Amino acid sequence: MKNFIQSLLLLIAVIVSTSGAQEEIYAKEGETIALGPTSYPAQSYVYWYFERQDGHQLAWLNPLGGKGFSEDEKWKNRLSLNGAMLIINNLQKDNFGTFVCKISAGGRDSITAFKVIQVNVIEKSASPLLSGERLSLTCSLGSVPQNPPEIYWLSPKGNREGNKGTVSITARSEHHGQWDCVVKKNGKEKKFPVSVTVVDLAPVPSHQYTSTVSPLTIPCSLIPGVTWDQVKKKEIEEVQWHFAPKLSSGTFSDNPEHLFSLDLEKLTWKKVQDNVKGLSPVYNIKTGNLSLTKSKATVGDRGRYTCSMKFKNDRTLKTTVDVVVLEIIAHPGPELIYGQQVNLSCSTGEQLPNDMKLNWTLPKTSSPYIPYPTHITVPEVGKEDNGKWGCELWQGGNKLTSVEILLKIEPRLSVWMLVIICSAAVILLLLLVLAFIHYRRRKQKMRLRRHRLCQCKNPKPKGFYRT
Ligand SMILES: *[C@@H]1O[C@H](CO)[C@@H](O)[C@H](O)[C@H]1NC(C)=O
Ligand SMILES: *[C@@H]1O[C@H](CO)[C@@H](O)[C@H](O)[C@H]1NC(C)=O
Repeated sequence: MKNFIQSLLLLIAVIVSTSGAQEEIYAKEGETIALGPTSYPAQSYVYWYFERQDGHQLAWLNPLGGKGFSEDEKWKNRLSLNGAMLIINNLQKDNFGTFVCKISAGGRDSITAFKVIQVNVIEKSASPLLSGERLSLTCSLGSVPQNPPEIYWLSPKGNREGNKGTVSITARSEHHGQWDCVVKKNGKEKKFPVSVTVVDLAPVPSHQYTSTVSPLTIPCSLIPGVTWDQVKKKEIEEVQWHFAPKLSSGTFSDNPEHLFSLDLEKLTWKKVQDNVKGLSPVYNIKTGNLSLTKSKATVGDRGRYTCSMKFKNDRTLKTTVDVVVLEIIAHPGPELIYGQQVNLSCSTGEQLPNDMKLNWTLPKTSSPYIPYPTHITVPEVGKEDNGKWGCELWQGGNKLTSVEILLKIEPRLSVWMLVIICSAAVILLLLLVLAFIHYRRRKQKMRLRRHRLCQCKNPKPKGFYRT
């Protein structure tokens, strides 16, 4: 038997060196692999050997279906056969090497060799990482074959990263997720995934556009998939919202207001000041959503909002959003009478960047005035100008936000009539009051006169009864 094995090993050496007829299999410790010979004729005997262990026989199978496996501690309970295919569960460090399959059928032997090469995938940095910390990944082979495969890493975004199987970069939100070490040879590739956790805030757009008739959401959230437990592991100290109002000079106040602070035990927001501008934090913080919302924006919401997470040793993560609020102002007001002049202006309170423009929408019946970019003057409003006047803020082909104002225009006559009716009513009332006062005065005077008359002309006939 020993002689046979030695000759077998020699044979393999010859096969491999002449034809290279040896399949290479790349695998990680702990993986399950299946080694399958290309052909498995009926009525054949199958034998599996492990070259590194002096050709130790791992398994056999006879044409009647009888089979047996190595009792060696190194392999016990981890081998099985599916037809002629050898399945090895939970690969161990010393299970890497060349496996040989001999199939005997009708007095002819066919031999196939499988070289199982170990792939070591190591994440050197301790996961979870805090954004800004170093992410180090290596992917290497336990034994490098004569004709080595290509090895590289794919980031979660699918980009090729690193050099010769080594990645060493500053961790950012886009690095959170599954990394794959790719081992590629002769057009065949195998991926070895590693999961990397980066604690960071998800990127947010630099500007949030809204209007005085629209809701406002100021976004801030943990990267999807990052849990509060992982955040706490990085020794979080504070989570806060600040607001710096936009000043008329176009800059932001140097003295931001502290709006909210997160209670890290209960995961609930606390108001830091009473005036939080009608903003409320999103209810379910457990999902990592730290956004603020408001049902309707106001001009007072214009400014810069900062969401920050402070960790031990002064490491801070933050996102800032500039809130832009579009507004229409009607001068002298939205309620007008026929013939009045009205000026409408639409603005964000600052000069628009070159790539943005405003677009007016007029009531359907309104005659098309030539709109200026930011304001419209209607010299004499009429019935046809009644309705919604809108203004949209566009950037490229995207509508960022829009705002509307309802103009109520009434005929001059009805207003004058109202004025006349009111004045008439007032005058009538006045006349009535005057008449009443006059009547009372007269009555009083009459009574007084009658009294006096009775005293002088009609004296009591004194002593009339005495006589
Ligand atoms: C957070 O909540 C707001 C308001 O409910 C929602 O608009 C936003 O999409 C949420 N963000 C994430 C990342 O789930
Ligand atoms: C409208 O604007 C023009 C100039 O822009 C001004 O002369 C006029 O007085 C304004 N009218 C009203 C009603 O504000």
